[in-house]
Amino acid sequence: MKALSLVINGRPVKAEVPPRLNLADFLREHQALTATHVGCEHGVCGACTVLIDGAPARSCITFAVAANGAEITTLEGFEGDPVMDVLREAFADNHGLQCGFCTPGMLMTARDILTRLPDADEKRIRLELSGNLCRCTGYVGIVKAIQSAQAAVNKAGITQKPASRAIGPVGSHPPATAQDYARRPTAESAARPVTTAASPAENFDAIDWQTVARDGVELRQSFSVSFPRDQVWRFFADLDQVARCMPGARLTGPMQGNRAEGEVNVKLGPIVSAFRGTLDAARDDGRFAGTVRGAGRDSKSPSSARAILAYAVQPTAAAASQVDVSVKFLLTGALAQFSRSGLVRDVADHLTRAFAQNLEARLSGRPVAAEPVETLDAAAMARTALWSRVSRFFRKLWNG
Ligand code: FES
Ligand code: FES
Repeated sequence: MKALSLVINGRPVKAEVPPRLNLADFLREHQALTATHVGCEHGVCGACTVLIDGAPARSCITFAVAANGAEITTLEGFEGDPVMDVLREAFADNHGLQCGFCTPGMLMTARDILTRLPDADEKRIRLELSGNLCRCTGYVGIVKAIQSAQAAVNKAGITQKPASRAIGPVGSHPPATAQDYARRPTAESAARPVTTAASPAENFDAIDWQTVARDGVELRQSFSVSFPRDQVWRFFADLDQVARCMPGARLTGPMQGNRAEGEVNVKLGPIVSAFRGTLDAARDDGRFAGTVRGAGRDSKSPSSARAILAYAVQPTAAAASQVDVSVKFLLTGALAQFSRSGLVRDVADHLTRAFAQNLEARLSGRPVAAEPVETLDAAAMARTALWSRVSRFFRKLWNG
């Protein structure tokens, strides 16, 4: 058990909690604050949105102990809040809810939009809402409700302090000391890419790869290609071509021996990350097997990733092969919350399919049907992949 001390809806709370208890369960089951709903439990649907130190965050993928020292606001904490009062009425008047399961998260996000972006147009409202899923309303009523609340709030001149934007899921705690305050991220510094003292390339040989191999989250994938093993194997020798098959990835410099610099751009819900780093490839021609080690830092947040990818090509027929891939990875920093295997596995499934299709196209000399996108929109992929899971959850809810 771990000691936890935080402020919830203005009330100081102390508790002893299991280290792996998530904040949503802590709020619902230990504090009886049941307005925070739990839908997907993967950080995708937004039903569990609360404010952590004033900024919206997913409580289902935040450990309660990670919120130690933080100030949490749940929907219950907005009793008497003028913006939330207007929003509640607007949701009721505009058919902004049906079963109401998504509504607490929608209201939290809607309030954030109204306070942070008072002039947001419909397009921007829809963009800002894209991290909150509703199974019932079709969003038209929700968007209308927010627009009508926006007009009412602006007309009445109701102003509220916008949420702090210097967020990690948790990590925007009010500074505890004057020194911390001086070091706090400002709006300007938060918008600037984070620079690090040493690039991953400089540190590459010092990386503890054994830890990645031992403790990394493992994903295994296999896919078939209708080309003979020799041809696939030759293609895999060209890391630049291989990277072009992967959405969001590319090499940024030529191979130097076994190494190259590269980048992977990923959009995950509201988080956009651009990992830049180094790849190191090794091949065993006798076994038709190879490994690629990669390490990189996100230029937009203090997150870093290390991964070991092992692959092998097996013949399955005279003119067909199977590629078996195993990836072990470790994420640190704000993005580590997405290491939860369900979400990552769904994204990996989609990536593997896209990679296999692009590989087939390139091997056959056809233009790649869908050129790998500049940025891998993992959230869109995950939403599609998780939609059936979320639908199942809502079906269960309705059917009791
Ligand atoms: S329950 Fe947390 S995002 Fe869906
Ligand atoms: S009202 Fe949104 S999920 Fe039912």
